[in-house]
Amino acid sequence: MEWLLPLAEAYTKEMSSPGPAYLAAIEAETLSLHPKAHMLCGPVVGRFLALLSSLKQPRYILEIGSFTGYSGLCLAEGLAPGGELHSIEARPAEAAIARRNFNQFMPQVSLHLHEGDAHEILKTLHHPWDLVFMDADKTGYAQYLEQLLPVLAKGALVIVDNTLFHGQVLQTPVSGKNAKAVQDFNQAIKTDPRWEVLLLSVRDGISLIRKKNNHGV
Ligand SMILES: C[S@@+](CC[C@H](N)C(=O)[O-])C[C@H]1O[C@@H](n2cnc3c(N)ncnc32)[C@H](O)[C@@H]1O
Repeated sequence: MEWLLPLAEAYTKEMSSPGPAYLAAIEAETLSLHPKAHMLCGPVVGRFLALLSSLKQPRYILEIGSFTGYSGLCLAEGLAPGGELHSIEARPAEAAIARRNFNQFMPQVSLHLHEGDAHEILKTLHHPWDLVFMDADKTGYAQYLEQLLPVLAKGALVIVDNTLFHGQVLQTPVSGKNAKAVQDFNQAIKTDPRWEVLLLSVRDGISLIRKKNNHGV
């Protein structure tokens, strides 16, 4: 996988705290066994998620796209005592690995791993999410955010991965289904009066999104 700024990407990793050793083990296992290992968010984004979560101390975290559990374990580092992490994964094999990694490395965390299509599962979950990490199908981002609007807690933070989509959103015209979906999502959020957004050029692009005060609960 080519990143937008490969040298800066390597440097940010080198100059950041490494995080718990089990994360490196999960990354190494995923790299050695999974043909799409690049989907794992990696140490810099992982530390970013852990830091934001620790600052926020959420009661309810929602992750869309568990994969092998790496990012979920990072998010769980900041959970408030008694808090819950709900993570949704469509593929049974990945869900099983994520579940195993959680049981092994964070057995104390109340993990609810929902197996299936997030579009359907979200209809059954109505927790007041404090922190959301969206990292599944890019064509679903807009719909996920719309579904979440009524249930987000006051001051909730929504973190969205891959919003630069390998730099493809910078090309004109933007081509490819996923790049177009991400570009449309970015444009829509920017102009939607209900949301406030900051798109950061961290790794593959991370958007931080907040609901403006006068919308929702
Ligand atoms: C980019 S990976 C997630 C990586 C993970 N967040 C991490 O950093 O370790 C995306 C995951 O979303 C899952 N996924 C894709 N579409 C989905 C959907 N509609 N519902 C639930 N999961 C989905 C894929 O099977 C894949 O495991």
